[in-house]
Amino acid sequence: MNEFFQMLKKDHVEIKGILGKLVETKESKKREELFQKLRAELVPHMKAEEITFYPPLMENKDAREDAMEGIEEHHVSDLVLKELEKMPKGEEKWGAKMGVFKELVEHHIKDEESKVFKSAQKALDPEEFQAIMKKFDQEKQKLKKSLK
Ligand SMILES: [Fe+2]
Repeated sequence: MNEFFQMLKKDHVEIKGILGKLVETKESKKREELFQKLRAELVPHMKAEEITFYPPLMENKDAREDAMEGIEEHHVSDLVLKELEKMPKGEEKWGAKMGVFKELVEHHIKDEESKVFKSAQKALDPEEFQAIMKKFDQEKQKLKKSLK
């Protein structure tokens, strides 16, 4: 399987794991701790995809529609993430919002791993994937450092 997709899928597994733990706790300190962990994984991952992976797909007429939908899902995720960040973690509503956020991110991951990966496989050649993978990892590490 495509090495770049494997790299993304590994992040997706990590992100889904944290989301699963987050919806299971009502304790605000634990929520805060897990939420920061989620942000530290999710934000650099999404931004690095937006910088390195989605632009070449947007340039391709067959991949463009799926890419555009993926970018919009990132945008909505970002908005909800910011709301979750501002809201006190002990609030009842926080749990409801987190539940919706989890579904949103899981839906996006599912779409990405099926539709986006499929169109990307058609749109890009192995050399392009190699270059994207390298850049993706660099950007992600850079963003991880700047988030701390
Ligand atoms: Fe994504």
